Amino acid sequence: MTTPLAATGPGAEAAAGPASGLLSTLPGHYYTDPALFAREQERIFEAGWFCAVRSADLARPGAFRTVSVGRESVLVTRNRSGDVRAFLNVCRHRGARLCTAETGEVRRSLQCPYHAWTYDLDGRLVAAPNMADMADVRREDRGLIGVHVREWLGYVWVCLAPEPPSFEATVQEAVTRRLGDAAAVERYGAADLALGRRISYDVAANWKLVIENFMECYHCGTIHPELTDVLPEFADGYAAQYYVGHGAEFGAEVAGFTVDGGAGFDRLDGVTEGQDRRYYAITVPPQVFLNLVPDHVIVHRMFPLAPDRTLIECDWLYRPEVVEAGADLSRSVELFDRVNRQDFDACERCQPAMSSRAYRDGGVLVPVEHHIAEFHSWVAGMLGDSAAQPD
Ligand code: FES
Ligand code: FE
Repeated sequence: MTTPLAATGPGAEAAAGPASGLLSTLPGHYYTDPALFAREQERIFEAGWFCAVRSADLARPGAFRTVSVGRESVLVTRNRSGDVRAFLNVCRHRGARLCTAETGEVRRSLQCPYHAWTYDLDGRLVAAPNMADMADVRREDRGLIGVHVREWLGYVWVCLAPEPPSFEATVQEAVTRRLGDAAAVERYGAADLALGRRISYDVAANWKLVIENFMECYHCGTIHPELTDVLPEFADGYAAQYYVGHGAEFGAEVAGFTVDGGAGFDRLDGVTEGQDRRYYAITVPPQVFLNLVPDHVIVHRMFPLAPDRTLIECDWLYRPEVVEAGADLSRSVELFDRVNRQDFDACERCQPAMSSRAYRDGGVLVPVEHHIAEFHSWVAGMLGDSAAQPD
């Protein structure tokens, strides 16, 4: 093995041109082993910030969504004051799942369907049948268990750790490091955009295969004909993520980021001349992938459900007036929907081989994929697993 690029943390990207030689991937069992997946759930997904829901999905007080974060179900809602709150979705009486629906809305309280313990939207236990008999139950000790929340880019990020890592030093730094400019992502105004389309993909592949695929473009010339028509430089295999601050330029004949290269919509207000006609891709480990193009933003959130199963919810965000006017988004959405399907098919094609003896020692990363080694080092570091780190 050759020496990997220096790992500087999640989402670290290569600043210079291609290195030479080959690096090893993680061994096959990293993609299949249930015990290792459980450690990832504990040390990665339950330990750091996790992008859970779009804030606008919780339009009113009492609106809620439930999501899987690591091994937990998390209930995200909005209280009477309009603030986002998140709780472990577990009743403090005898442990029933409080909300079984993925999405819904309550008026003022959350009532357990088992024995009707009732919590307000700040998680306080406010009522229970026969409460008068329960002198020993201190309501203040039996509220829902809260988890930390942050809102950024129009999404609610949650953290299950008692002491969350710095949001700025982890999530925001991963974006800044990739773009080379802390303000660049803010110019797209993602928090104020409207959801034009959401597509969920149930992918039979390990979450790390999905991340690795997002990070490289060695495959673009082979499996993404529509994308390479719009972004001709991708045919050379260098991902936009390979270089700090680089946005892939639209082809000369391309009018917009659409499936046929036809015109899209008006440029988003904050997007600069330098960002116009360019595509930026950012991986925010462990489970977010952002695409920035002049007229919309695409946000992928991954929910790893099993060693070989990852749910991916992908949002296409546009100017509110575009969505309100009922504009035809189909050519715009279709480009990255096709890219997603092409990518996820590729991941599913790899997953069965992860348990093959042919892949026991893993595969290799060619020079244009070397930045993936930094992700591997990060995973191994989070797991405290020096054995998997490239030497
Ligand atoms: Fe929820 Fe009994 S388990 S009220
Ligand atoms: Fe791809």
